[in-house]
Amino acid sequence: MYHLVVFASGNGSTLQCIIDSIHNHELEAQIDLVVSDNPNAYALKRAEANNIATYIIQNKNFTQRDLELSNILSKYPIDLIVLAGYLKMIGPSLLEMYTIINTHPSLLPKYGGKGMHGMYVHKAVISAQEKYSGATIHFVNQEYDKGSIISQTKVEVLASDTADSLSQKVQAAEKIQLIQVLNNFVKQKGQS
Ligand code: GAR
Repeated sequence: MYHLVVFASGNGSTLQCIIDSIHNHELEAQIDLVVSDNPNAYALKRAEANNIATYIIQNKNFTQRDLELSNILSKYPIDLIVLAGYLKMIGPSLLEMYTIINTHPSLLPKYGGKGMHGMYVHKAVISAQEKYSGATIHFVNQEYDKGSIISQTKVEVLASDTADSLSQKVQAAEKIQLIQVLNNFVKQKGQS
């Protein structure tokens, strides 16, 4: 079995998509744990509704948070950590121990970096009158949104688009892309 841990700070629609893909046998994997820095994240409710263990990390200190997480994660058999709308920086212990990927709602390197997440990204894309936006899945390193790119999907930005409508289009494309990327990771493990 391919073992995932998903980190999420908010709504968790990306987490839900992974859960649904597993239930529908579109992804042969299991989520062993959902981690959130936000006790009110709806992602936690989605995990609980699907009997997935959750862990809330509330330590504000970067180094302590890294060590606390590395201690918790050491109890799980992990093939891949997926950041699905997780807004905190990942520390060195985790980066050293695990393969970690992030999904970001823009065509990186555009509209990435600290503070650039979710609707902030879509608002910035609309203000700049970009012709295209999209989603990027990339490996996580010690800098926000700077790790090497695994895959990108382009979405056309229409003159009639708002940040809301763009967000919906990007998120739909992003979810399809993420499941494809996860399937590739699963396949690679099967071949190794
Ligand atoms: C996703 O679009 C993801 O790309 C973005 O947050 C959304 C999470 O939605 N992540 C970032 O902006 C990270 N920089 P969700 O909570 O409904 O899954």
